[in-house]
Formats: sequence, C-alpha cells, structure tokens
Amino acid sequence: MDKQDKIDYLRKIDEQYMSWGDTVHYQSRPIIAQSCRGETVIDINQHIYIDTQMWHSSCNFGYRNPEIEQAMNRQMCSLPQVSGDFLHEEKLLLAKQICDAVYERTGLKGRVSFNVGGSMVVEDALKIVRKNTRRNRVASMMGAYHGRSLTVSGLSSSHRYRQYFGECADRAIMYPFAHCSQCYYEKNREDCNDYCARMIAKSLDTDFYGVASDDSNEIGAFFLELCQGRGYTIPPRNFFKKFVPEMQRRGILIVDDEIQIGMYRTGKLFAFEHYEIVPDIITLSKSFTNGLSPLSAVWAREELVSREIFTPGHAHSNFANHSLGTAAALQTWRYMMSRDYESQLPVKSEYYLQGLQRLKMKYPFIHQVDGLGMLFNMTFTDNQGRPWKNAGKRAVTLAQDNDYAYHGEIFRLILNSGGYYNEGLKLAPYLDITIAQIDRTMALLDQVLARLSESGV
Ligand SMILES: Cc1ncc(COP(=O)(O)O)c(C=O)c1O
Repeated sequence: MDKQDKIDYLRKIDEQYMSWGDTVHYQSRPIIAQSCRGETVIDINQHIYIDTQMWHSSCNFGYRNPEIEQAMNRQMCSLPQVSGDFLHEEKLLLAKQICDAVYERTGLKGRVSFNVGGSMVVEDALKIVRKNTRRNRVASMMGAYHGRSLTVSGLSSSHRYRQYFGECADRAIMYPFAHCSQCYYEKNREDCNDYCARMIAKSLDTDFYGVASDDSNEIGAFFLELCQGRGYTIPPRNFFKKFVPEMQRRGILIVDDEIQIGMYRTGKLFAFEHYEIVPDIITLSKSFTNGLSPLSAVWAREELVSREIFTPGHAHSNFANHSLGTAAALQTWRYMMSRDYESQLPVKSEYYLQGLQRLKMKYPFIHQVDGLGMLFNMTFTDNQGRPWKNAGKRAVTLAQDNDYAYHGEIFRLILNSGGYYNEGLKLAPYLDITIAQIDRTMALLDQVLARLSESGV
C-alpha cells in the first residue's frame, strides 16, 4: 500500500468504524498524528505542526520529555503493573510530594488519593464534599469546565454537555464569572466595584435568595476553575477573595480545580497562589503525568479525609493508582521542581505577551490579548465591535490545514479556539519554549491571522 492509499484507508476506517461522539471531528480533516517531540507534532504526511496549546495543557513539559520517558521505561522493566490493592513506592512518594507542596504554600496538612482522569477525580472530590457536608448541591461558575462524565456534566456550565442526556438532578448553581470583557451584568471593569463578586456573596444574605439562611445553607462546595479553560479567561486578582472566605466561614468547601491550570501553567505551581485564597480540596490531572499514562489526584484537608472519615472503599477504580502512571507523575513532579519556573516563566510570559500585543496592533479585529504565566488569550470582534462568532474556530482550521513558511522551512500550527462564542484563541505553549521558538510561533500566527483577515470579518 503506498502512503496515500494508507491515509485513505485510515480515513475510511474513521468514517465507518469510529464513533464520532468524541471531540476529534470538531475539525473536518483531523490530524492523523505519527510522532511528537517538544512542542512539535508530526502527522502521517510528515507535516510539522507547532503546538501552541500542548494538548489543552496536558503536556506542559513537552512531548516525549526524555526524563519522564526514561522513568516510565525503567518502570516498564521493574513494576509495570500491580494491583491497586497494594502499596508501591512511587505512589507513596508522589502523595508525599503533593502534600508537602500544599503544606509549604498554605500551612495545611492533607491527604491525597488517585484516579484515572480529570472527571473521575472531580467525582472523588464530590464524594469528599458529600461525605463531609451531607449536601448534594454544589455551586460552580458560568463558563467553567470540570469534565463530561454524567455527574460532572452537572458542574460544567455548557448546556451543550447536558442537552441530550435527560435530567441532571444535581446540576450546580452557576454564578457569573468575572469575564470582564464580556461582563454578564454588562458592567465596566473600571467602575463596577467588583459587582459580580459582591453578588455571589450577597446570594447568601437572606433565606429569600433561596440558598442559605443564617445558620444553614444548601451548598456543599463551590467548585472553582480559577482561570477558565473555556477561553483562558483571567479574572481580576481580588475576585475570589471577595466571596471565598465568607463561603468557607459558612462551611461551604472550596474545591479548586487545577486540572488544566495547575503544574506551573500560570507561572506558579497552583493557580490559587495568585488569588490569596486557600482551597479545601484541590484536583490535578492532565500535565500531572505530562499526558502519559493518565493519573489524576485529589488533595483534601486532613479533617475531610482522615482515616476515620474516608474509610477503605470510599473511592476505587481498578486502575486508580497504576504503577506506570505513578512513575510518570513522580518523575514529572521531580522534573518540574528541579526547574526554576517561578523565576524563568515571567520572562517568557512577558516576551510571549509582547508578541501577541504586536499582532493586536497589526490586526484591528483583535480586541484583546491577556496572559498569566504561560496561559494567554486573544479575542476577536467583528465590524460592529461584537464578539466575532466562530472566528477562533476558523483560525484553527486555517492554521492546521495550510503551510506557513519560517526561515525557509514549512510548518503548520495547532491552535485552540476559545471564548463563549468561539470568538478567540487560547494559547498554552510548552513551558520550556525558547525565545527563538516564541519568535517562530509569532511569525506563524501572524500569517494565520493575515489569512483570517482575508477570509472576511
Ligand atoms: C479544569 C478541568 N477539569 C476537569 C477536566 C476533565 O478532565 P478529563 O477530560 O480527563 O475527564 C478538564 C479537562 O479538560 C479540565 O480542563
């Protein structure tokens, strides 16, 4: 079979045998990936793609990171599989690393349990909440994403995730997020006086607002995605501290979902460190193993998961702490901690943001660019100054399906669209990206935006 025949054959299998219910067919010609390294993915046609989103931030430390890969190879030759009913060294050392890191940052003691992916560990967090508060109802924020299992779909804001699946009995109460450039309350950031944060706190003021009376309330926990993955929306620094302490005072647990934005994505190990709040529960996944052999973790304060409270069998999945996953996560943690990201990343962040700002000066349809650490957003508006619906999606297709030249070489770009109207881009580059690689990304992005502009606002 020659190469083109093979590609046609594979695409036919996709047509005929694959369920299209996952997110692959968000693109009409999905990439057929063949290899990857650093910030680069190569497809079956040998097109070289520069990835600006690192698999939705699941691979912060680069594809095929040699240190992490070697640790997994070593594990393959020692303890590649073992029952989750036993302990093993990597699992124990990993739990200690997480607890120590949280303790150093908050002074709180806690415990960790593992699971297989993001939604699964959010469900474990829900169990911890229900066991401790005896309440099923939780709150989350408009625009938030916490996963797509049936239960967790009730916490993720998009109606799209629930619309085909009947009743979601424990659907969260959803409060507007501080998405200042598209304020739900149509206020201006300059003079809103943190209106949205005040409204959240106010909802607990009287029993007639429906969720709380003086000595009791219906909300077991508030699930927070501090910078929302939907558009990498970055709220003001004082947003959370205007309502989180009051919620905690009333016994509402704060679950900080760091699955996408933890692991130094925002320039700090945990995003909560930017916002002067201390969560009760933290979830990690995605880059926790740098995208290898999936493993997720939930940390909770000691009182919530002490040996007396969370007794054996409260949570379990056969593969919840499989040894390849714990080896990958432990080495990812060691790799991450051996780099001085806290002082390195601000320099790269500033340089990246300046590149995006230069593009903003060049293209009038770019309404805003913003960044925190190595998490960036760029939003587009139409001729009337309204969100340019689906422009982000269009840019993704243009970037992925066309060749762009840089210094005599040909590349393609992997972009992610974002925003409530798919009106922008969200960028989560490789954390070890070099200045020269940032220059290359900006030059390629410039060419994609030129095409987007030509395609008509
Ligand atoms: C913040 C956040 N929470 C939870 C999840 C769910 O993770 P998974 O897709 O592994 O179930 C995601 C995935 O994108 C996420 O970004």
